[in-house]
Amino acid sequence: MMKNQFELAVFALLAFGCLPHSHAERWLKDVCEFASPRNEVDFENGIPDENEQISIPPGTIKAIMTRWQTPTHPIPPGSCQLTQPASIAQGSSWLEPYTFNGTRVCAVPIEMFQDGLECGTCYEVTYTGEKATNHGRAGKATVQVINHGDIRGFDCQPEVFEEITGNSVGGIFPVYFKRVDCIFTPPTVVVLTGDNAFYTKVLVAGGHTSVKAVSMTLGGKRINLSRVSGATWGADLDGQSGATSFSLTYRDGTVEEVSSCFGGRWPVATSSQCSWSKEI
Ligand SMILES: *[C@@H]1O[C@H](CO)[C@@H](O)[C@H](O)[C@H]1NC(C)=O
Ligand SMILES: *[C@@H]1O[C@H](CO)[C@@H](O)[C@H](O)[C@H]1NC(C)=O
Repeated sequence: MMKNQFELAVFALLAFGCLPHSHAERWLKDVCEFASPRNEVDFENGIPDENEQISIPPGTIKAIMTRWQTPTHPIPPGSCQLTQPASIAQGSSWLEPYTFNGTRVCAVPIEMFQDGLECGTCYEVTYTGEKATNHGRAGKATVQVINHGDIRGFDCQPEVFEEITGNSVGGIFPVYFKRVDCIFTPPTVVVLTGDNAFYTKVLVAGGHTSVKAVSMTLGGKRINLSRVSGATWGADLDGQSGATSFSLTYRDGTVEEVSSCFGGRWPVATSSQCSWSKEI
């Protein structure tokens, strides 16, 4: 029930550009009609696609997609803070499948971002070939969320925008999306505030989707971290040292332990990483 309402709300937000006030049903009736002033996109006068269409994939939600331009920036900066220098100084394998290899990354509206819960989530985004504001052809790709913005739908890097739509210029395209697992990379914890026994801030990245809770076990004591922003988490510590491990709870409820970190030492330097490799 909650899930349905949430999906409905996200759908309505992305498709029509406005938000439910108290709950989705009331909002659908009262607030967000198709004639919403923000619904200025006139797909009827859009340019029809001449090529083959893809049928609407089951279980998807309709949204719009635009082109996110970050000229001359190899790794897009993002509010998830995945790509800051301190986070990648000792490696960046979790960025490879999406950010480094063809930049398959997108921003989502701030309302969908949920204070960072979306960070690192992957979506399969399909353009069926429906009318859009610009020329295109049907296509699809899996993208990862690394940013949010004052936008109405998925705002995606030029490379993946073109991969999905065949368009290398821009425009507004109706798309269908569903959450999927990301290409697996080892879940990784990177220390961003290091050499401090009384506070730590870490980046949590990798795994098959984003995380909703993080705790660390330090010298046998369990400490819950809270989200600082994006994919970064922090906690006050009490000066303890000792063996460190982390427990990551993903948004789908699965839990993974990243253990035996830092050779049993704590605190450790900024940019220190601990990751877990799945045995295949
Ligand atoms: C991404 O690119 C790097 C560097 O070229 C390569 O080592 C890696 O295998 C690629 N990963 C994927 C998932 O294609
Ligand atoms: C830490 O988080 C876990 C799981 O979310 C919860 O059960 C536990 O009560 C929390 N502990 C503290 C001290 O807040």
